[in-house]
Parts: sequence; structure tokens; C-alpha cells
Amino acid sequence: MRMVDVIQKKRDGDTLSEAEIRYFVNGYTDGSIQDYQASAFLMATYFSGMEPEEQGALTMAMADSGDRIDLSAIEGIKVDKHSTGGVGDTTTLILAPLVAACGVPVAKMSGRGLGHTGGTLDKLEAIDGFHVEITEKEFVRQVNDLKIAVIGQSGNLTPADKKLYALRDVTATVDSIPLIASSIMSKKIAAGADAIVLDVKTGDGAFMKTPEDAEVLAEAMVDIGSEVGRHTIAVISDMSQPLGYAIGNALEVKEAIETLKGQGPDDLTELCLVLGSKMLIAGGKAKDTKEARQQLQRVIDDGSALELFAKFLEAQGGNPEIARNPELLPKASIVREVKSTSTGYISKMEADEIGVAAMLLGAGRATKEDEIDLAVGIVLKKKIGDAVQAGETIAVIHANSEQTQQTEKMLVQHIHVSRHPQKRPELIYKVIDRIAK
Ligand code: URA
Ligand code: CA
Repeated sequence: MRMVDVIQKKRDGDTLSEAEIRYFVNGYTDGSIQDYQASAFLMATYFSGMEPEEQGALTMAMADSGDRIDLSAIEGIKVDKHSTGGVGDTTTLILAPLVAACGVPVAKMSGRGLGHTGGTLDKLEAIDGFHVEITEKEFVRQVNDLKIAVIGQSGNLTPADKKLYALRDVTATVDSIPLIASSIMSKKIAAGADAIVLDVKTGDGAFMKTPEDAEVLAEAMVDIGSEVGRHTIAVISDMSQPLGYAIGNALEVKEAIETLKGQGPDDLTELCLVLGSKMLIAGGKAKDTKEARQQLQRVIDDGSALELFAKFLEAQGGNPEIARNPELLPKASIVREVKSTSTGYISKMEADEIGVAAMLLGAGRATKEDEIDLAVGIVLKKKIGDAVQAGETIAVIHANSEQTQQTEKMLVQHIHVSRHPQKRPELIYKVIDRIAK
């Protein structure tokens, strides 16, 4: 086989065979295919697209390019959840104990990553003593005992995706649906998922800016799931404003604990119930959404989800008291209220800009080397559609430096107030499930 023929075939819009796709992925990973040919291939794919079977083959070839986590020693259907990323997205911290308390095993591999706040791993490290450096054997044992464990990313997972992603970044081929969809799905499959629930965000603060674009990506990932035998359900949800109220690591852990107690923000709670019910259905624990929601509501109401969260913290060295008393979490030294300058209704809360404001306080990393300050962040007091008076608090800054003027300015600038009543955005745009129940 010659790479030039594979490139030409894709350039001309033909459908590649599984063997041709594997030849490319393996050759690029081991260095026998060079950047210039891989770049041409990516650009041809960008323009010609890929059929679902090609995307399935690309996904599996990338999943097979490095280590694959073997979760077969864990009983039950392992359902993984993935979010395409947003601001203040605390859902994993809530969903993991919530669905585990309903009997779905949660065997989560989690990374740090860049962004407005840390990843799930950083957030968990806001809990005194908590660690994710456990062996794969301990990980499997803990999931079988408790139904929940989180392990740090280790080993050589999807090296093909890492290398291709870096190349896409410099060849203007990141925003290709087949390439994004196969990149995300390959990582979930390498991490051992039997079934996958995707939270595809749309809006200002998301990768896909419109619901239509988000739907195209969601459809592609659900199709890949069918191709490779992993039940995949996608939920398209709103990211035109931050999710919940808290943005920041310890602040989000506190919000997660409140949500597990049934006292969380409405939008965050509802999204967790929607995603959680899809996880219970995919995990074979509920036959339909109604039954799933009842189960989730029960483990919130009877305190068992929170109790399991405490046990999970303890099992991984964390202080379980924090689940009962989130006041024990790290606190910022400076707490400053930001006031509205006008009276009316919140019309817009630019999620991406508010996320940047939190990052500049130290809540997130701009580069891999940055240190996170777990205590700092922003707690919003309003959502789009809420009424507001001039002089009323719209947000609270938690900082460890006196220099909060820039943050205040950004918040006032990016939280818009209109004189006219505003419609609240739809939280869930669509659910895509080929095996809908
Ligand atoms: N996120 C990923 O993991 N891969 C992409 O290609 C884009 C976003
Ligand atoms: Ca939040």
C-alpha cells in the first residue's frame, strides 16, 4: 500500500477501507508516514468528509494505537460520560456518585487539562488528602466494592490521536466533524467504555457555537458508537451561560455537594438528571427515562448518593467530612461582591469571557506548567432572565490577591442587563439515541 494512493482516494471523495485507514494511523504513529503526507490526508478529509464506517475504522485504529484499559474484571456495563467542555461544568463530580449509588459502575480515568478551571482531577484535589495515584488493581477492586473510583491518566493512551491533534492544530484541520468525532470516541474506547453518554455543549462558551453544529457533531459520534458496538447517547445542552453558579475548583466541589443533597442550582441539577438517566439506561439499570429519574431522585432524597461520595473520598485518602461540611474546603482570603450598574433583566452572560476571568484569578491553567489556586473563582448570583436592580450583587469574586479590579471590570462588561424582560435559554436542545426507549 502507498500513502499517496490513500490520499488521492480521499481527495477524490472515495470511501477508504478499514485496511487503508489502519495503514495511515499505524504508519503515522510509528513515524513511517511523515507529517507532509499526514497533513495532505487531513486536509483531504476536511474537504471530502468521511462515511460513518470510515469514522468507525478511524476511531478503532486510534484506540488501538496505544494502551487500552481493560475493565473486564469489573462487573456490569461500564458507562463513561464525556462533555465537549464548557464553563463551570461540575457534572462529572455529581454524576459519578449519583449513578454509582444506583448501581452503575463508574470507573473513571481523568486528566488535568487546560481551561477556565481545572479538570475533574484538580477539583477532587481541592479535597484534603484525596489522591488518584492508585494502581490499576486497586482501581478495579474499588469499583467492584464501591461502584466508584477515579484514577489519573497513566500509560500511553491513543498516541495516534495526540500526534494527529497536534498536526491538526497547525494545519487548520481541527474543525472537521469526522476528525473531532473520532478523536473523542477513540479516547473513550481506549479508556474501557462499554457505553458512552455525551454532553455536547452549544453556545458562546462551547466548541460548537450553534445547536445545528452541535447536532451534526453529536450525530457523528452516535453513528460511530453504532459502528463500533458501543451504545452511545448524545445530549445537546446549553452553554450560552455558565452552568450552575460556581466557577472555580473548591467552589464547584461545594456546588456539587449541594446538588448531591438536592439543594443545587436548577440548571445543574436538571442536566445531571438528564445525563444520569441516560447513563442508567445505557448501563441497563432502568428501562426508560421515567424509571431512571425516579431512581436518581431517590438516591438524592435518601442521602445515599452523598453518603457514597463520602465513602469514595475516604477510599482515596480524602477527608470524608467534607461531604457533610463543605465549609472545610480551601477558602480564598478575599471575597468581593460585584454590583450591577443598571436595573433590568440579565440578557446575556458571556460564558467564555467569564471563564477567562476565573482563569485569570488562578482557577485554571493557560499552559501545562501553570499552578492552579484551588480556592479562587467566581460565584454568579444571577442567570439569564433574572431581574436585577442597580447596586444589587450579580457575582462574588473569591481571590487570593487584592488585584480584583480587572476581574470586576470583566464581569460588569460581560454580564449584560437589558431594560426588557428576557427569555431564559432552553437547557436541553435535543437527545440523540438510536436505541431510544
Ligand atoms: N476534543 C477532542 O478530544 N478532539 C478534538 O478533535 C476536538 C475536541
Ligand atoms: Ca458551576
